[in-house]
Amino acid sequence: MEIGVFIPIGSNGWLISTTSPQYKPSFALNKAVTLNAERYGLDFVLSMIKLRGFGGKSEFWDHNLDSFTLMAGLAAVTSRIKLYATVPTLAVPPAIAARMGSTIDSISNGRFGLNVITGWQRPEYAQMGLWPGDDYFGHRYRYAAEYVRILRDLWETGVSDLKGEFFTMKDCRLSPRPKADMKLICAGQSDSGLEFTARYADYNFCFGKGINTPTACADTVARMQSFAHETGRKVASYALFMIIAGETDAEAEAKWELYKQGADLEALAWMIEQATADKNPNSSVHHAIDAAAMVNINMGLLLGSYGKVARLLDEVATIPGLAGVLLTFDEFIGGTETFGERIQPLMQCRRHVTPAAKEAA
Ligand SMILES: Cc1cc2nc3c(=O)[nH]c(=O)nc-3n(C[C@H](O)[C@H](O)[C@H](O)COP(=O)(O)O)c2cc1C
Repeated sequence: MEIGVFIPIGSNGWLISTTSPQYKPSFALNKAVTLNAERYGLDFVLSMIKLRGFGGKSEFWDHNLDSFTLMAGLAAVTSRIKLYATVPTLAVPPAIAARMGSTIDSISNGRFGLNVITGWQRPEYAQMGLWPGDDYFGHRYRYAAEYVRILRDLWETGVSDLKGEFFTMKDCRLSPRPKADMKLICAGQSDSGLEFTARYADYNFCFGKGINTPTACADTVARMQSFAHETGRKVASYALFMIIAGETDAEAEAKWELYKQGADLEALAWMIEQATADKNPNSSVHHAIDAAAMVNINMGLLLGSYGKVARLLDEVATIPGLAGVLLTFDEFIGGTETFGERIQPLMQCRRHVTPAAKEAA
């Protein structure tokens, strides 16, 4: 099973709480986390794009770096790990995204790929006059389909002439083209998101679900695989989990209780309001609105001692069609270190991995 880290490009990571570690993102922080991931033989890092935070006392995600330029910096200081940026398709024209991708391919020597998002939070785009109106909720994956066809045209042939419903390209050129076969991620969960992924993307990222229920997302993975079966394309699924670990179960559980007690209700209310703005019956952003669970954005939580978390991850690895996991931590520098030193060595599904530190010895 592959392991990736969802690096902390936004303030406070993925805990919407006033009692969790409070920090702002910086290149130094993301570099330290990424170098840990590379040192312990992890497979990839991904950074999201978030253009407006949720506010509240914790100022959740009010502080966010840009995904492409962060990954360009990380490409220059790493040598092995794969790097994925996220493109906000409403805000960056596809020919510019293709060229930035080509540039980071060159910096990273073929280690770069792209997460394509349609955007679900209207204020991110409305604040810069780029929200196309609420009809967009109904056709955002049609828009994304044209967008990635242009990316693929440019990366694969160096020219796009696509005349579509949303984009008109006229002998649009790209050179140099990336040397890597550029991989695309889509993290859609709705039927239209999964159908789009099956047609155009290489990987689907989905939410893990619940607390210590490692296979609860198997249904989303199965849905993805059945959409992929229809198109005859291969799509690998990855599940998103947060790890809160400690020497003992009790130590880890105490941290989680503390974070829940400090839930930032104002920021959570903002997120829930935005996430339910898509009234489309097909929308998946309604997936839960339970304040206690949403402290960690309702991503799957793996909670307990290092041994317990390792066992839970081995269970995740049994999900049919799942190629890997994307991890977040309550505290990323210490979290990636203890993952590499204490958790990964106990995982059966990672026995093949040789951390760089051992390779060098
Ligand atoms: C791992 C992961 C990464 C995501 N990254 C972003 C992101 O960077 N920016 C964003 O606005 N949405 C992001 N999303 C939201 C998805 O792109 C998608 O809109 C959401 O899962 C709802 O699915 P749907 O679009 O099919 O309704 C992410 C979701 C997941 C699971």
